[in-house]
Amino acid sequence: MQERKIVYFDSPGKQNTENVLMLAKKRFDEGDIGKVVVASATGETAVKALNFFPADRMVVVTYHAGFDEPGAIELKEENRKILEERGIKILMASHILSGIERSLSSRFSGIYPVEIIAETLRSLFGHGLKTCVEISVMCCDAGLVSPFEDIIAIAGTGDGADTACVIRPANMNRFFSLKIKEIICIPKRR
Ligand SMILES: Cc1cc2nc3c(=O)[nH]c(=O)nc-3n(C[C@H](O)[C@H](O)[C@H](O)COP(=O)(O)O)c2cc1C
Repeated sequence: MQERKIVYFDSPGKQNTENVLMLAKKRFDEGDIGKVVVASATGETAVKALNFFPADRMVVVTYHAGFDEPGAIELKEENRKILEERGIKILMASHILSGIERSLSSRFSGIYPVEIIAETLRSLFGHGLKTCVEISVMCCDAGLVSPFEDIIAIAGTGDGADTACVIRPANMNRFFSLKIKEIICIPKRR
């Protein structure tokens, strides 16, 4: 048996970013975590995370190109430069919890299995936790984290970070093998 602390933020959002990074680092320093994966659209949260984690243990996941406008890239060039200079791996890839189904739901106004999984995670546990799960699988499929090692995933609601958890990742084709092992911090109001 093990007792652990979970920090609950009053509300979701970017204002929690520094605290999330601090709490995640505290957990990372226990020494049993492989990598830290950070969701960062513009690169802002990722650049902040550089002050907390060793560069060779950090992976950044950004939006796929065209997430908003066709072809547009959200990651700011100045942030990409900072991250690349530090040797950080940046993953820009299709989002596994929307994928091609987003085209179906946009065109036909329905909802399909993958987006049901996403919405269930969002509604029950918040946007941050849903994104932590998603980026863990994306990194696992890119070979950037191992399915045999626990990681810390950090994500937020729209921007910044408000959630961190310890996850044992899985590949997309074994999604239900993924385990959320610990919640480090999460907003109370979702
Ligand atoms: C692959 C991916 C999926 C995301 N999905 C969601 C989501 O479903 N809901 C949400 O509020 N934010 C979502 N985000 C946003 C992140 O959780 C995070 O708040 C944001 O990327 C931080 O960006 P910033 O560094 O530019 O502030 C997603 C980000 C990525 C990279």
